[in-house]
Amino acid sequence: MKPTNHWDIVPINLFILRANFLPMLVIHEIRDLKALIAAQKADGKSIGFVPTMGALHRGHLSLVQEAGRQSDFVVVSIFVNPTQFNDPKDLEKYPRTLQADLELLEHSPCCVVFAPTVETMYPEPDTRRFNFGQLEQVMEGQFRPGHFNGVAQVVSKFLEIVAPDKAFFGQKDFQQLVIVKAMVKQLTLPVEIIACPIIREASGLAMSSRNERLSPEQRENAAVIYKTLREASNNAKNFSVEELKTQVVEKLNANPYLQTEYFEIVNDTDLGSVEQWTEPVNKVACVAVFCGEVRLIDNIVIA
Ligand code: PAF
Repeated sequence: MKPTNHWDIVPINLFILRANFLPMLVIHEIRDLKALIAAQKADGKSIGFVPTMGALHRGHLSLVQEAGRQSDFVVVSIFVNPTQFNDPKDLEKYPRTLQADLELLEHSPCCVVFAPTVETMYPEPDTRRFNFGQLEQVMEGQFRPGHFNGVAQVVSKFLEIVAPDKAFFGQKDFQQLVIVKAMVKQLTLPVEIIACPIIREASGLAMSSRNERLSPEQRENAAVIYKTLREASNNAKNFSVEELKTQVVEKLNANPYLQTEYFEIVNDTDLGSVEQWTEPVNKVACVAVFCGEVRLIDNIVIA
């Protein structure tokens, strides 16, 4: 994957709306969605797909906007996928805000929202086990065992149901993006995965549904995460990789609101750890930090 240089604050300055001017539909059943999409395809329309777990924010809307720019008919799924939560408490606490989500999507290029139940998506337990090797063993994989298998289960189901030409994923979940691309390759799915830039709050904090769980003071202090990543990216070459990693962790942990879970500098292909700046690979610095009980992730390209 080629990293872009614009992962920073990207204004969503060009809003576009539904191409077909029809009211947005909300569908709960797979057969209804498949019939609608088949009709669109028969009409020569290209299909863009944005998978979400709801609790939508500007980051999600930027994906929907991009899908609208690149496709004729945009499908957004809203589904809190139980198989990707390794912590049952996290699943329970995950915000479910369907009504507010639908209102936001009304003013977007989204043509249809697919909001299935757990029984619809998993009429039987999904026993598939994917093997992504190192991609799923490092960083998030190390701290959230089984998470990416769950992501692969649900995303592969969605891609089979929606059969989109393009599917849109945010670069904030950088490791997820790499794994989804690997899965699409493994399963030879006929879909193009489009990576979209991280959208940030004015403070620089990467947009996430989890930000809503931060107190005002925590939210203010969480902005230190991106500030530290930016400084690290700007000063990287003045230090060895190891020195930089130590400095970042020390800086983050010096903030009483923050506790670093990992900080890694990896190549963007197989997510192997970068040891030397001279390695001819694209380098991405990835971090997971607890702010109180809220776990936040972010990343930045090291040019
Ligand atoms: O990134 C997310 O919100 C989820 O992991 C996804 C891709 C919607 C799958 O549940």
